[in-house]
Amino acid sequence: MAISVSAPGKLMILGEHAVVYGYPCIVSSVDKYLTVKGGRSFDKNDTFVTGKIRDTSFIKSAIDIIRNKYKLKERIFLETESDLGEYGLGSSAAVTVATVKLLNELFGLSLTNQEAFELSYKAVLQAQKKGSGFDVASCIFGGTIYFDGKSKEVDVFSHDPLPIIVGFSGNKGDTMIMIEKVAELKKKKQKLVEEIFNSIGKLVGQGKRAICKKDWQRLGKLMNDDHQLLIKLGVSNNKLNQLVGEAVRAGAYGAKLSGAGGGDCMIALVSDENRAKVEAAIRNAGGELINVEVGKGTLINY
Ligand code: PMV
Repeated sequence: MAISVSAPGKLMILGEHAVVYGYPCIVSSVDKYLTVKGGRSFDKNDTFVTGKIRDTSFIKSAIDIIRNKYKLKERIFLETESDLGEYGLGSSAAVTVATVKLLNELFGLSLTNQEAFELSYKAVLQAQKKGSGFDVASCIFGGTIYFDGKSKEVDVFSHDPLPIIVGFSGNKGDTMIMIEKVAELKKKKQKLVEEIFNSIGKLVGQGKRAICKKDWQRLGKLMNDDHQLLIKLGVSNNKLNQLVGEAVRAGAYGAKLSGAGGGDCMIALVSDENRAKVEAAIRNAGGELINVEVGKGTLINY
């Protein structure tokens, strides 16, 4: 018998990088998914058919960790399918969470969401060494969450869609390189970087309140401020700045890079009235519009 689990992609709304150092962030799941389908196998080894996902280290870590913890002997087969593309929407976390949840179903492990988070986060750290776990939490809990980078506590505070447009900058960012870049800057300019992290932490708290009140003017301003702070951290690039600038000039409430930077996506918060203008501005500046609903993703078992 085969079981399928689909884990949603994610977009960072506010707080990237600082969250690695224990500050909070706001992250939204999106309605695009990575699906893992699988079952018990009678082969001698596990078998994976992963299509476009070339890196199977996250799947292997998840299986290793669960197999060791629950002393499982059976082999399994897995197949993956993804709508997340190469846009930095969180494939690694999604494939890890979907694998953990699939094993949970397959072997009746009765994992709570918190346990699934802990096991998935451990698997991600085993495969890539660094990361706050915000993406793992987003896959598991869905909606829009406030994630505490220190305690790893999750507050799912909204299930409503956010009026956000997503533009891909044209090249893939490398999260580990960008995390390293910030760590280097922090070594050289500790005080400055700590001040930036503090400011980011503050605007994340204000951002949560703005989202709860649907105060888009305020949230837009916070996104613009966050983008400037990310520029100071050295993680933006010309293309992202151009797309962000054009989106704001075309009438967005605010815009920023989303995620580690150095490529991947930018997001722009818009009114219904200005949506078409901002979309055109992003397209004209060379961005690729990604058609997702932000804040509406949820984990699906079937
Ligand atoms: O590159 P992304 O989209 O996975 O975002 C990384 C966000 C960081 O804060 C830089 C890293 C992390 O794990 O929190």
